[in-house]
Amino acid sequence: MKTALSAAVVLGGLAARATAQCRLLPGDAGWPDAAAWAALNETVNGRLVASVPIGHVCHDPTYDADACAALQKGWTRPMTHLGSSSSVMQPFFANQSCDPFTEQSKPCQLGNYVSYAVNVSSAGDIQAAVRFATKNNIRLVVRNTGHDYFGRSTGAGALAIWTHYLDSIDFFPFSDASYNGTAMKIGAGVMGYQAVQAADAAGLVAVTGECPTVGLAGFTMGAGHSALSTSFGLGADQVLAYEVVTADGQLVTASPTHNSDLYWALSGGGPGTYGVVASMTVRTYPAAMIGGASIALSAAYTTPEKFQQALAALHALLPNMTDLGADIIYTATNSVLQISPVTVFNSTGEYVNTTVLAPFTARLAALGIPFRAQYTTLSYLDHYATYLGPLPNGNLAVSSYQFGSRLIPRSVLLYNNTALQSVLQNLTSHGVILAGSAADYRSKTMTTTTTTTTTTTTTATLLKKNDSANAVLPQWRDTTVQLQLITRWNNTPSAWDAMLAEQRRMTEEYVPQLESVTPGGGAYVNEADFRLQEWKRDFFGVNYGRLMSIKAKWDPEGVFWVLKGVGSDRWAVDGEGRLCRTDQD
Ligand SMILES: Cc1cc2nc3c(=O)[nH]c(=O)nc-3n(C[C@H](O)[C@H](O)[C@H](O)COP(=O)(O)OP(=O)(O)OC[C@H]3O[C@@H](n4cnc5c(N)ncnc54)[C@H](O)[C@@H]3O)c2cc1C
Ligand SMILES: *[C@@H]1O[C@H](CO)[C@@H](O)[C@H](O)[C@H]1NC(C)=O
Ligand SMILES: *[C@@H]1O[C@H](CO)[C@@H](O)[C@H](O)[C@H]1NC(C)=O
Ligand SMILES: *[C@@H]1O[C@H](CO)[C@@H](O)[C@H](O)[C@H]1NC(C)=O
Ligand SMILES: *[C@@H]1O[C@H](CO)[C@@H](O)[C@H](O)[C@H]1NC(C)=O
Ligand SMILES: *[C@@H]1O[C@H](CO)[C@@H](O)[C@H](O)[C@H]1NC(C)=O
Ligand SMILES: *[C@@H]1O[C@H](CO)[C@@H](O)[C@H](O)[C@H]1NC(C)=O
Ligand SMILES: *[C@@H]1O[C@H](CO)[C@@H](O)[C@H](O)[C@H]1NC(C)=O
Ligand SMILES: *[C@@H]1O[C@H](CO)[C@@H](O)[C@H](O)[C@H]1NC(C)=O
Ligand SMILES: *[C@@H]1O[C@H](CO)[C@@H](O)[C@H](O)[C@H]1NC(C)=O
Ligand SMILES: *[C@@H]1O[C@H](CO)[C@@H](O)[C@H](O)[C@H]1NC(C)=O
Repeated sequence: MKTALSAAVVLGGLAARATAQCRLLPGDAGWPDAAAWAALNETVNGRLVASVPIGHVCHDPTYDADACAALQKGWTRPMTHLGSSSSVMQPFFANQSCDPFTEQSKPCQLGNYVSYAVNVSSAGDIQAAVRFATKNNIRLVVRNTGHDYFGRSTGAGALAIWTHYLDSIDFFPFSDASYNGTAMKIGAGVMGYQAVQAADAAGLVAVTGECPTVGLAGFTMGAGHSALSTSFGLGADQVLAYEVVTADGQLVTASPTHNSDLYWALSGGGPGTYGVVASMTVRTYPAAMIGGASIALSAAYTTPEKFQQALAALHALLPNMTDLGADIIYTATNSVLQISPVTVFNSTGEYVNTTVLAPFTARLAALGIPFRAQYTTLSYLDHYATYLGPLPNGNLAVSSYQFGSRLIPRSVLLYNNTALQSVLQNLTSHGVILAGSAADYRSKTMTTTTTTTTTTTTTATLLKKNDSANAVLPQWRDTTVQLQLITRWNNTPSAWDAMLAEQRRMTEEYVPQLESVTPGGGAYVNEADFRLQEWKRDFFGVNYGRLMSIKAKWDPEGVFWVLKGVGSDRWAVDGEGRLCRTDQD
């Protein structure tokens, strides 16, 4: 494939680049001149930002020893990157451009960082940016936090629509044919902790990511697993309506009754693909106390065999725990297991201790494995801050890891846990870290079309695989664990090649072992190996064809392109970072 295509691109040469077959890069003929950028800046009321990567303080001529040391120290904290219009939290996609750990004498270059960003304050700013990019054949990127695992919020020569400051949150009662309850309308920049805090102040809870700084919009478009998913479903299940700027620069509403195809695709069909979400109206729920817990144990206080038995017991018990109303987040290596937190909505720490975790702690006692446990009864905000905080930064490091993943079906935990455990044991013995988010991921909100009676309740409704109120990969509904495989990322510049070798192992060795015990399964488009080969099948499954036709309808020219998004294989990024069509005659 590569040879034929690159020959065509090379032969097409510069002539092809001047056409719409490739997006322009700075320096190309046709790249907007200073006056054109100034005119855009005027249209957006001075909110156009020319990128200055935050790593510039570590490079001549703007080197500043103190600022550089502080940046290096804070590099793995999300907060370090959030105020920047260009920074990304997956170092592979920054590709060592203006890297704070490379030599001071190496010039700070943009590389894969966006060239410009519009620091948007309204849907009108988004429209202006979309129109400017399409008119001038410039690559467009939608960027909120820069958390993306696939570098989907960055790109060479791109104009970014930077949504971070669209952070309004309003609560109101909502009533229509599908839902009567409380709701909030949020700007596209709202992050998890902001929604959790605001909902708490309003006596409500909202479904957000476990990481406090993950943006709700990107989370929702991918699917969105939450510490409240067992009670309320995925993030994508919460949306009542979107305001969206489409590829032609129009602002439209997408809901079950307006532009319902776009609504369906935006809700789980992958981020950054169908349009730019300006706001979302999502369900909220009356607050209740949360039963919580954390448990930690170490192989240092038992034998390796017994430690593995404890890990196997946890996995065997996860379906029962989710049936009892729990969400369980855990990490494991071959020497440490940490469950933090267990979350049960409208419950108590005592219930978690004596009912949810009792079979597991009894098993640990039987194995003679000592463990540390904590049980709590807290508001959701306090629970979130205790186990997933401190807010706002959270306890997860960024720029520190590489990822692969697989959705683990409930049936595998029930009927083939032994095979799963031998894979997990082998993976951890090779240094892979496991990070699991276990819940009952069935929708609690959708109208079922599989039964004769139509139910729209907040209790679990059993959805068959093809229920399609939104574009969430159907395999999610049979999933008990979203299991991530993690290897460390070393920021030392000389470790680059070793990190690429780790990527190859993730793709070629680690993920396939999990695939072998989860036939017919899938993977989470927001938390996966970005090199996954069978991405259409694994991220979008039976929905791919329908998503592709919605993409073709709303974005026929491919204005919105993200790595491994629906329709993305009609384009490719070359060695210079240039985005070019691959499907032209
Ligand atoms: C530390 C960490 C913890 C995480 N925890 C969870 C978790 O608990 N649950 C979970 O489900 N996922 C989690 N994720 C994955 C997360 O869902 C994705 O990284 C997601 O892409 C983050 O969205 P963002 O807007 O914050 O990031 P960005 O990198 O800013 O954007 C991500 C993608 O969303 C698109 N996008 C963002 N805003 C818009 C918009 N307004 N319109 C159109 N497209 C848009 C971007 O184009 C890009 O493709 C986690 C990730 C990290 C790094
Ligand atoms: C846009 O205008 C503002 C206000 O005049 C200015 O501060 C900013 O530097 C301009 N942006 C660019 C990229 O020139
Ligand atoms: C972006 O806009 C916000 C206000 O909406 C402002 O506080 C912030 O400083 C701006 N950031 C940049 C980099 O221009
Ligand atoms: C919400 O309330 C309205 C008015 O009472 C009613 O018509 C509608 O069917 C209700 N929706 C649901 C999902 O119950
Ligand atoms: C909590 O559970 C009780 C019954 O156990 C129920 O009456 C109440 O409505 C629930 N509260 C919420 C907010 O779901
Ligand atoms: C889960 O609960 C069911 C019903 O109570 C029980 O039969 C089963 O043994 C439990 N599973 C495990 C692994 O203990
Ligand atoms: C957990 O429950 C057991 C009884 O099942 C009890 O002995 C123990 O003290 C409880 N732990 C905490 C921390 O409450
Ligand atoms: C699900 O839908 C797809 C595409 O519409 C169809 O090919 C498949 O047979 C359906 N599967 C089931 C179980 O109905
Ligand atoms: C265990 O993992 C290693 C490293 O990925 C792999 O080479 C090996 O084949 C695996 N062993 C088994 C039994 O799958
Ligand atoms: C369990 O998984 C293995 C593959 O690792 C497979 O060969 C076997 O058939 C599976 N067993 C069941 C009961 O699904
Ligand atoms: C990183 O930059 C090199 C050139 O320095 C280029 O060949 C490569 O494709 C880039 N990789 C990414 C992921 O952008």
